[in-house]
Amino acid sequence: MLTAEQRAIVQSTVPLLESGGEALITHFYQRLLGEHPEVRALFNSTHQQSGAQPRALAFSVLMYAKHIDRLENLGNLPAQIINKHVALQVQPEHYPIVGQCLLASIREVLGAEIATDAVIDAWAAAYQQLADILIGAETQAYDRNASAVGGWRGARAFRVARKQVESTEITSFYLVPVDGGAVMAHLPGQFIGLRIVVDGQEQRRNYSLSALANGRELRISVKREAAGVVSRHLHDAVREGDVLDIFPPAGHFTLAESDKPLVLISGGVGITPTLPMLAAALGSQRPVVFIHCARTPEVQGFRARIDALALKHPQLQCHYCYDEADAAPARMDAEQLGRWLPASRDVEAYFCGPQPFMSAVLQGLRALGVPPAQTHYEFFGPTQALA
Ligand SMILES: Cc1cc2nc3c(=O)[nH]c(=O)nc-3n(C[C@H](O)[C@H](O)[C@H](O)COP(=O)(O)OP(=O)(O)OC[C@H]3O[C@@H](n4cnc5c(N)ncnc54)[C@H](O)[C@@H]3O)c2cc1C
Ligand code: HEM
Repeated sequence: MLTAEQRAIVQSTVPLLESGGEALITHFYQRLLGEHPEVRALFNSTHQQSGAQPRALAFSVLMYAKHIDRLENLGNLPAQIINKHVALQVQPEHYPIVGQCLLASIREVLGAEIATDAVIDAWAAAYQQLADILIGAETQAYDRNASAVGGWRGARAFRVARKQVESTEITSFYLVPVDGGAVMAHLPGQFIGLRIVVDGQEQRRNYSLSALANGRELRISVKREAAGVVSRHLHDAVREGDVLDIFPPAGHFTLAESDKPLVLISGGVGITPTLPMLAAALGSQRPVVFIHCARTPEVQGFRARIDALALKHPQLQCHYCYDEADAAPARMDAEQLGRWLPASRDVEAYFCGPQPFMSAVLQGLRALGVPPAQTHYEFFGPTQALA
């Protein structure tokens, strides 16, 4: 239990961490991944190298320290962390490893003069408080997934029943459980964790579920990244009939209870979570605006199916834009979005795509007056700041 004195110490060290936070976290990751091969497979090495993952963790630790007296001020942050952890199967026994590495790195970066025993003890207590919150919520999520109809705990073997090419870059994988059992219902917008060995190395990645739950199978749709370890392997080496290890669905990028007009905006393969959202919304009378940007028509997936839905459902309006075909980057600014959104900006907007695209969309929606509480987004990687 954190004492009042320890809280004060933690809060007084926040400015130091803010200035040296990234160095601290870089030390921390080098230590964690260098000395603890048992957790290395959980972390995506690209996210480490780009610095995005260390930044996300540094940011969350600082936010936590700042709001240690009022954790409810952290908003979505705990849910975001818990969902990522659950989809990659972070376990309670991993927390002491991370805690030890974090404290050792604080000591190293701050130096003996600042990182006194009292400072380290305060941070140890604060870390434990946060760890207990996360472990509690993650354990509940694992238990819920295990006890759901068609649910499971940890990895479950799924056979690739079908591979369907969606575009020159995107292929869908239809996955059915090898045990022949039912598959738990996911919410539109959620994603699964995939565990796979590539060139002798275990890798874990997240993929959004690109179709509505049907109790029998899951569908993911993967963009082939030219130098991507897992996506290239899935496209080039994984065949129909092969078996993949899948962790249960997680994620809080899901449709809020609402009958306001729904606006779905995606860039590239960011279309995947919006597809089941679209299908779910078309089960009601709700107006839907579906906006999708791709580099070219060739790399765009799913257009024929979306167009067919628009013919069948007059409540659906679709707009597409192409970066390269227009010879200029498709501008996702307020002017462009303003032409496509319903006249009333009282909408629920969901978007996903590359980070610059998402920044532009967020700015556009803000400028048009879409209430911040009605804008929702997902990153296909570590959460980053949006301008
Ligand atoms: C919640 C969530 C949902 C997702 N849903 C989907 C989805 O539906 N469909 C989908 O296709 N993806 C999705 N992703 C992304 C997916 O998890 C993978 O990140 C993606 O498939 C790339 O993985 P990879 O192993 O192929 O590439 P990685 O090997 O991880 O590399 C990723 C990219 O970084 C580049 N790169 C590699 N090394 C470096 C380096 N040292 N420096 C700079 N760049 C480097 C590679 O060229 C590649 O383009 C989702 C991610 C999240 C978090
Ligand atoms: C109090 C302790 C912890 C905090 C505050 C924390 C915080 C975070 C944050 C902020 C993210 C990024 C979330 C996002 O991108 O939206 C994250 C992701 C992640 N965390 Fe933790 N975490 C903690 C403990 C752990 C532990 C014990 C492990 C397991 C060893 C772990 C493994 C991961 C992994 C694998 C990811 C995803 C990395 C990626 O995208 O490559 N975390 N965590």
